[in-house]
Amino acid sequence: MPPLAFLLLLPLLHLLGPALAESPDRYAVRYAPLATGANGNAAAQEYVDPTYPLPGPPPAAPTCTVPVLSYSFANTYGAPPAKAAYAPPPGCPAPWSQVVLSFSAACAGDQYDRVAAVWLDGSELLRTTTAEPTPEGVSWTVRKEVTRYSALLRSPPDGVLSVMLENLVNDQYTGVYNVTISLEFHGTPAYLSGVNSPSPDVGVADPSPATPTLPESYFQPADLILPISEATRDNGYWFRIQNSSDSRSKLVTIPSSTYRAVLEVFVSPHSNDEFWYSNPPDLYIQENNLTTQRGNAAYREVVVSVDHHFAGSFVPFPVIYTGGINPLYWQPVSALGAFDLPTYDIELTPFLGLLVDGKAHEFGISVVDGIAEWLVDANLHLWLDPSASAVQASLGRYRTPRLSISRRYTTQLLNGSFSIHAKRKSFFSGWVKSSLGNFTTEVETELEARSLVEFTSDGRNKTIQMKAEQETEVLVRSEARKVIGKLKTESEYPLSFYMDTEDGEDGMSVVKGSLSHALKLETEVKSDGFENEAKLVDEQTAEGWMVVKDHDVINGSAATSQMYRYSDDRWRYQRMINAVDGLVLGDNVSESYRVQDAAKAKACLPGRSCDGTASAAERWVDIAAM
Ligand SMILES: *[C@@H]1O[C@H](CO)[C@@H](O)[C@H](O)[C@H]1NC(C)=O
Ligand SMILES: *[C@@H]1O[C@H](CO)[C@@H](O)[C@H](O)[C@H]1NC(C)=O
Ligand SMILES: *[C@@H]1O[C@H](CO)[C@@H](O)[C@H](O)[C@H]1NC(C)=O
Ligand SMILES: *[C@@H]1O[C@H](CO)[C@@H](O)[C@H](O)[C@H]1NC(C)=O
Ligand SMILES: *[C@@H]1O[C@H](CO)[C@@H](O)[C@H](O)[C@H]1NC(C)=O
Ligand SMILES: *[C@@H]1O[C@H](CO)[C@@H](O)[C@H](O)[C@H]1NC(C)=O
Ligand SMILES: *[C@@H]1O[C@H](CO)[C@@H](O)[C@H](O)[C@H]1NC(C)=O
Ligand SMILES: *[C@@H]1O[C@H](CO)[C@@H](O)[C@H](O)[C@H]1NC(C)=O
Repeated sequence: MPPLAFLLLLPLLHLLGPALAESPDRYAVRYAPLATGANGNAAAQEYVDPTYPLPGPPPAAPTCTVPVLSYSFANTYGAPPAKAAYAPPPGCPAPWSQVVLSFSAACAGDQYDRVAAVWLDGSELLRTTTAEPTPEGVSWTVRKEVTRYSALLRSPPDGVLSVMLENLVNDQYTGVYNVTISLEFHGTPAYLSGVNSPSPDVGVADPSPATPTLPESYFQPADLILPISEATRDNGYWFRIQNSSDSRSKLVTIPSSTYRAVLEVFVSPHSNDEFWYSNPPDLYIQENNLTTQRGNAAYREVVVSVDHHFAGSFVPFPVIYTGGINPLYWQPVSALGAFDLPTYDIELTPFLGLLVDGKAHEFGISVVDGIAEWLVDANLHLWLDPSASAVQASLGRYRTPRLSISRRYTTQLLNGSFSIHAKRKSFFSGWVKSSLGNFTTEVETELEARSLVEFTSDGRNKTIQMKAEQETEVLVRSEARKVIGKLKTESEYPLSFYMDTEDGEDGMSVVKGSLSHALKLETEVKSDGFENEAKLVDEQTAEGWMVVKDHDVINGSAATSQMYRYSDDRWRYQRMINAVDGLVLGDNVSESYRVQDAAKAKACLPGRSCDGTASAAERWVDIAAM
């Protein structure tokens, strides 16, 4: 292997290989910086996706762990999902204060990143992607709070958990993914019952009908969850969307007693759209006689419809899988969301007027400008009237939400600049009269995205800048038009990176670059006697170089840092990580919270309600730099 300096001195080959037209790309690492460390004998390494640590169970809560599945995913491409029987634990009956799904994986050898999903009876619980292994082996654990799926978890005595992980094993790519999945159930101890809902004061609020309040159940897990997913499950329950006109849907009859509905969408882009935010328009591909299929420019939006009416949309967070752009950036800290892909909630309550007639209705999902392929499905969360078999409901205002999109493209052979500006605004309202009251739900959404893809140095230097911003406000009004509930979400996804490619000899090339991206999320929940604001800023920056041949990384160096910052009315949590060449050099956690007294502190765990108005006590945990 010639050293990098030598490669850089080579005259540029004025040929644009297919590899360059397809960068950024996914690669498998055939070179582990760690393995060539000073002592030359690296051990198996644990990979991480730093997020907010899930709270432990409340003290004295009954706790049951149910091992559900243990499976080695070898050459599973095209095979049906792995399956296991599931039943809720008799020792820890519902309702649960918390349920956690634990997905642990280990792999050694060479392998690409792979996508995986976990479904229970066709409803998705987790969308994840794998870390890329080293010869010494890697392992990681994803812990996801799945309490919101309680309706699914408690119903089946003969449930079936399915896991799809499409892997390809041959002489070259040897990594087999060993996966174990378990569910941890935490019951509700007596001293917490009544305090474990996010709106503890609702029950003691003025019960007179003159001042109606939102029922407590509004903020609790749904009573029923119906899958909007593929019925022919031999290929997984996800819909495989191939193009922008490929809308996939399912006909579903919902109970006539439904008073609230939320559609939660799971989505991951693959093959020609894995790096959709960097795709040039087709014009550029045609003008330069390129063979790449990765076109259709750099805007994508996932759209949800109800009986062919637009009902909501979002620009998906651009998750980078661990083999993407430069896989050395993601060792051992995975890219944001790669181990637990974000899901997107669409409030469908205003549409209940169309849906509660006891007939089947069509729930559809499509991808604006999408090309092959998108793996998409959804869970329909429904809240049911506890004391009436039917509600009355009607759709009110429906403002036709048009997408306004402007594109500015300039090309000069392999140089080019492609900018896109997209905006969509929508407003829906509808009332539902149940035994809980007659509530009108208004949903206002604003979405704006800007994207810039620039190719300079005859396509050797690619610069990508994207930013998507979305704001959704859900207001619930009483019959007297008083606002009795508010849910506001603002999200922002900035992404920018560049990749500078120089061709070397023997089909090798050197790619230098840097990247920064962030997931910013602010939520505000307000209802009678309850209020919370939460803010998350999760950012990563990375920089480095790699030598690639075909799809293998054979040398390189990279540094990554991550800042995870979460705060709400009671908690502040920060974690900063620095990693260089596969080693974590610093990992600092700081945490502070307000508590009233020691007894309260025990019951007062993140995500759980507690009285936090009194004097602040601070605790700082410092995991010293290594
Ligand atoms: C990787 O690149 C570095 C820096 O150019 C060089 O010193 C080293 O020998 C290379 N390693 C291999 C395995 O080629
Ligand atoms: C995966 O499981 C197989 C069979 O139990 C075992 O031989 C192998 O060592 C495991 N691989 C890893 C990386 O743990
Ligand atoms: C879109 O994909 C669907 C499903 O694969 C296919 O039937 C249809 O012909 C495609 N449409 C276009 C315009 O390519
Ligand atoms: C693309 O192919 C056409 C037809 O072979 C040719 O006329 C044109 O010069 C080519 N363009 C480039 C940029 O190579
Ligand atoms: C493309 O841009 C580079 C500078 O980034 C310039 O040297 C080159 O001449 C340009 N190519 C064309 C065809 O204009
Ligand atoms: C490639 O683009 C980046 C970002 O615009 C810039 O910093 C870098 O200098 C460029 N490299 C070359 C060789 O033009
Ligand atoms: C429910 O409230 C809405 C808005 O205040 C009103 O238009 C509707 O007639 C009410 N429905 C019933 C059944 O009273
Ligand atoms: C962690 O804290 C130490 C000591 O305060 C500091 O030197 C180091 O830079 C910090 N590392 C990170 C990743 O924040």
